[in-house]
Amino acid sequence: MQKLTGNKKKNVAVFISGNGSNLKNLINHSLKKKSKFKVCLVISNNSKAKGLYFAKKFNIKNKIIKYSNIKIAEKKAILELKKNNIKLICLAGFMKILSKSFIKKFCGKIINIHPSLLPKYKGLNTHQRAINNNERYSGCSVHYVNQKLDSGKIILQKKVKILKNDTSKKLAKRILKQEHLLFPKALNKVLSSL
Ligand code: GRF
Repeated sequence: MQKLTGNKKKNVAVFISGNGSNLKNLINHSLKKKSKFKVCLVISNNSKAKGLYFAKKFNIKNKIIKYSNIKIAEKKAILELKKNNIKLICLAGFMKILSKSFIKKFCGKIINIHPSLLPKYKGLNTHQRAINNNERYSGCSVHYVNQKLDSGKIILQKKVKILKNDTSKKLAKRILKQEHLLFPKALNKVLSSL
C-alpha cells in the first residue's frame, strides 16, 4: 500500500532581487517527483527583477515588497510566509540584509546561496577578489543564514577552478552553473532533516 505520510513536498519561498536563474532552476527541480520541496511563494524587493517572469510563468504566487522600510517590509513578508505555510526560505540573489529579529524568528529556516568558498570572500564582488588574490579555486556555498553576513553554518559547497586569464564574468558564469546543481541538492538535504 502506498505510504501517505512523510513524502509530502514542503512549501518553500524564494526571495530574489534580480535575474532569478537560481529561482528558475529551483522551480524546475521542484517539479521532479523525487524533489522534497515545492516553490509556493516568490518575494522580490525589486519590481523589475527578471526572476519574477519565472514565478508568473509557472503560476507561482509572487509578491513585490519594497524594502525601503525594513520593518514594514518584513511584516508583509511574514504575513505571506504564514499564509502560504512556508517551511523554509531560500535567498537566491536577494540583495537586502534581513533584520536580526527576522532571522531570529526563522532561525534554521533560512538558507542562502553565495558565490564563493565561504568563509572566504563574504559580501559582494567575490569573483574579482578571488582572482585578484591569485586563488587557485573559488566556488559556491549554500549556508544557513545567521545574524552575521554570510557566516552561518555551511550546508554544501562546490569548488570551481580559477583558470589562467579568467575574468570575473567568465568565472561567475562557471560558478553559476555549479550553483544550479548545488542549491536544490542542499535544499533537499535540509528538508530531509526538518
Ligand atoms: C548568484 O550568483 C548567487 O550566488 C548570488 O547572486 C547571484 C544570483 O543569481 N547570491 P540569479 O539571480 O539566481 O541568477
